[in-house]
Amino acid sequence: MCITLSLLSQKGGVGKSTLTMMLLNALYHKKGFRVLLIDADYPQLSIYKKRQRELYVVANNPTIKKKYDKIYADRTPYPIIHCQLTEVGKTIEEHKENYDIIFVDIGGTINQPGIVDFFQAINHFFIPIFEDDLSIYSSMELYNILMQQVQPISDAFMGCKVLFNRVHARNQTQSIKDQLSEIDFMEQEVGAYKLYERFCRSTVFPMPKKKETEKFYQFVENFLQVIQVEKKSTIPLSTR
Ligand SMILES: Nc1ncnc2c1ncn2[C@@H]1O[C@H](COP(=O)(O)OP(=O)(O)OP(=O)(O)O)[C@@H](O)[C@H]1O
Ligand SMILES: [Mg+2]
Repeated sequence: MCITLSLLSQKGGVGKSTLTMMLLNALYHKKGFRVLLIDADYPQLSIYKKRQRELYVVANNPTIKKKYDKIYADRTPYPIIHCQLTEVGKTIEEHKENYDIIFVDIGGTINQPGIVDFFQAINHFFIPIFEDDLSIYSSMELYNILMQQVQPISDAFMGCKVLFNRVHARNQTQSIKDQLSEIDFMEQEVGAYKLYERFCRSTVFPMPKKKETEKFYQFVENFLQVIQVEKKSTIPLSTR
């Protein structure tokens, strides 16, 4: 069965797109899952356009092209497609047979036309938050909407987790977790690292071998425990 998931927030700029790209990178290159990204963040399409920019660099830089050809001798980068939020359900139906995991990136807030259909097409929701109180309170609101209003009306719903992103010191998040015991937090957190803003979120090249990357892989293991996805095969799909 294909798992569908989305990172959501009420507040912008909490790392939805960054974490989506990092997770896709790790799940595809490190773990061998067949993954698809649907970019429904109109009109920005930030991840879709980032892929296009990266492929442009590959095509125009012989050194990078050589590296690319080595990695992609027998496959292509995981596909990134785009559609309007209102089309997400239909697009998932068209593709789900061919993938283990489909990510949907939506920009900004959940106050958009088509959001109810979108909610009903997603199995797992993840709400990234920063350590500041505005981020925490708006995410609690969203968490309650998903648990109390979406869960009862959606056959697809499998779970919702809040996760700390851009964490500087773990001991601070623990006290917040203790105070908000009604919220289902992910055990692992994502640290604040410059590397995550650059090489780690490439949509084309695997993450560099660095200690920051290893830390992120620990988060990925926790993420896989949450979504309980099974691999259909180890051979990645071709985009062609
Ligand atoms: N763990 C992290 N470490 C360092 N920087 C991070 C981390 N997570 C996110 N960022 C940075 O935070 C900024 C916002 O991230 P991003 O664009 O992914 O957020 P978003 O939730 O997708 O925003 P939007 O709501 O506009 O779509 C970016 O500059 C990104 O590089
Ligand atoms: Mg984004």
